Amino acid sequence: MLVGVPREIFPGERRVALVPAVIPNLKKAGLEVILEAGAGVEAGYPDAEYTAKGATLAADRNEVFAKADIILQVLSHGSNDRTGKEDLPLLRKGQVLIGFLRPLGEVRTIQDIAATGATSFSVELMPRTTRAQSMDALSSMGTICGYKAVVLAADTLPRIFPMLTTAAGTITPARVLVMGAGVAGLQAIATARRLGAVVSAYDLRPAVKEQVQSLGGRFVELDIEAKDAQDAGGYAKAQDESFYQRQRELLGKVVAQQDVVITAAVIPGKKSPVLVTKEMVAAMAPGSVIVDLASERGGNCELTRTGEKIVEHGVSIIGSINLASTVPYHASQMYARNLTNFLLNMVKDGQLNLNLDDEIVHSTLVTQGGEIVNPRVREFFSLPALVAQT
Ligand SMILES: NC(=O)c1ccc[n+]([C@@H]2O[C@H](COP(=O)([O-])OP(=O)(O)OC[C@H]3O[C@@H](n4cnc5c(N)ncnc54)[C@H](O)[C@@H]3O)[C@@H](O)[C@H]2O)c1
Repeated sequence: MLVGVPREIFPGERRVALVPAVIPNLKKAGLEVILEAGAGVEAGYPDAEYTAKGATLAADRNEVFAKADIILQVLSHGSNDRTGKEDLPLLRKGQVLIGFLRPLGEVRTIQDIAATGATSFSVELMPRTTRAQSMDALSSMGTICGYKAVVLAADTLPRIFPMLTTAAGTITPARVLVMGAGVAGLQAIATARRLGAVVSAYDLRPAVKEQVQSLGGRFVELDIEAKDAQDAGGYAKAQDESFYQRQRELLGKVVAQQDVVITAAVIPGKKSPVLVTKEMVAAMAPGSVIVDLASERGGNCELTRTGEKIVEHGVSIIGSINLASTVPYHASQMYARNLTNFLLNMVKDGQLNLNLDDEIVHSTLVTQGGEIVNPRVREFFSLPALVAQT
């Protein structure tokens, strides 16, 4: 079977779906790789490194899609909401597509993929189980984003992060608050601690308190309790507006004391909750920085502008999107390992063997035979259950 890696076409995207180091593992399992020439260059992986590991090069994108049985992408149609459509005429019936499809974004984009007849898998739907951990691309990208958020904040803040005792006096450490201590938030805590900041963190799931503390952060406890804070998959559940309002009242004082606030609180498929209001921004000291990692889904800060860096009340608010793409070497390395583990789980004797009894396979399979077959996606968009599933 031939695995194809086209160049990423989302504007500014620098990642690539496979790195040279994983090719030998794929070959051992009977899979060959064809790469669109130049696909890895922006991430720091020249063509020669791929061919040295046994990949062949295709002169253009059409050749990759025409020859490959399996297409591996980072941002596919759906998550690539700018140019992803261009790939639709290139996909064919039975061809396998694996990538970020944004399956709970817009039903139309998933219907578009279904209409090509491709068998598509969305990495966002990976179950949160121990066995699937090595395939979990959301966690990999979250790790990169959490790290980069702190680097951006440190670069923007007019202060340094660590405490210093010098002949010119003592410098107090920066105070960093992380809101939403999921994978990205936890990495932000660890990175800010390494730079010497005093870090606190808040999350509506009380279960993360110990994780925050083990990274050297202080857990901010508010006098409110979320109802059913977490679903069976470990994700936060949306709360009602009265909860969010009370949360904002209590968080106001904490936010005002910070030099940096990093927000990373998202609810899958939903608009992100507003945790930092414009009044809270106005109460922060001038020069403070907010990095809003939830900006793609509306943002956790009321003033965030998606994809922009703005200054309001003297506070810099960074709403960058697609941050993982700004660390393309390691983001691609992690993603490539995730995809390779995912693929090898489905390959037997060089052939794809879709075992629908495997939770990893049936949870991530989105379209097959012209239909959206994923029960979670169908339910999310209120599509009737498929007859075969009932
Ligand atoms: N294979 C596995 O076992 C596995 C893999 C990945 C993640 N996880 C776990 O799943 C959990 C969620 O991880 P994630 O990074 O994908 O989360 P996420 O990106 O979906 O959300 C980020 C965080 O924001 C928090 N949040 C949401 N609304 C909030 C609000 N109003 N106020 C404060 N915080 C709010 C969530 O509780 C979550 O911790 C973590 O505990 C993580 O360790 C497990």
